[in-house]
Amino acid sequence: MSVTARERLIVALDLPRLSAAEAMVERLGDSVVFYKIGYQLLFDRGLPFAEALVRAGKQVFLDLKLHDIGNTVANGVAQAAGLGVSFLTVHGYPQTMRAAVEGRRGSGLRLLAVTVLTSYDDADLAAAGYATGVKDLAARRAEQAREIGMDGLVCSPEEAAGLRRLVGPDMALVTPGIRPSGAEAGDQKRVMTPTRAIAAGADYLVVGRPILDADDPRAAAEAILAEIAKAQGR
Ligand code: C5P
Repeated sequence: MSVTARERLIVALDLPRLSAAEAMVERLGDSVVFYKIGYQLLFDRGLPFAEALVRAGKQVFLDLKLHDIGNTVANGVAQAAGLGVSFLTVHGYPQTMRAAVEGRRGSGLRLLAVTVLTSYDDADLAAAGYATGVKDLAARRAEQAREIGMDGLVCSPEEAAGLRRLVGPDMALVTPGIRPSGAEAGDQKRVMTPTRAIAAGADYLVVGRPILDADDPRAAAEAILAEIAKAQGR
């Protein structure tokens, strides 16, 4: 990958209010160029904020995990592509992924598939009516994502090495669950340091609380960037 360490760090703006997100972006300054916006901020003027970030030269990952009938997904993705954001997540159902690829046609939007939610285990899948376990379903959906023309996958850092072997070098692997050495895991059950995640094949690291909750968020981000740069050899 030819991207710089700075372009590989995505800060998850999991904050309750727009004002808090604006203040965090201000504090992080030019140390962070890529932000993830999810439901929480979306419902407090998150979309105009995403557009403002794009105008300010930042990259934005809209983590909306879309899933609906194909026509609705295609139209929604086409609309999202017009916002100028870089990444958008959809659930890894073949029909949903095909519709998303159709909807983003002609735009620079990159589509990421969520294979199986990391809060699901085999019992949750069985309760939802699936006869397949998490591991097999995730692998199957990863292969389908590649065949359909999705650009990448969201996965835990522990899955990265296996998925890299499965889908090859061209798909972007985006990993949450990153904790610098010595940091609290919070509710993340499977965590990895930035160094190990990069070594496992992750292209982009999504980091929330270790930066948002730090006394000095900018210093925390810079420390992670230094680890990424070291891991990728520059
Ligand atoms: O605070 P923390 O670094 O754990 O934040 C990780 C971010 O990645 C959160 O926005 C969380 O919703 C998201 N995420 C995750 N696990 C997934 C998919 C997304 O932690 N499987």
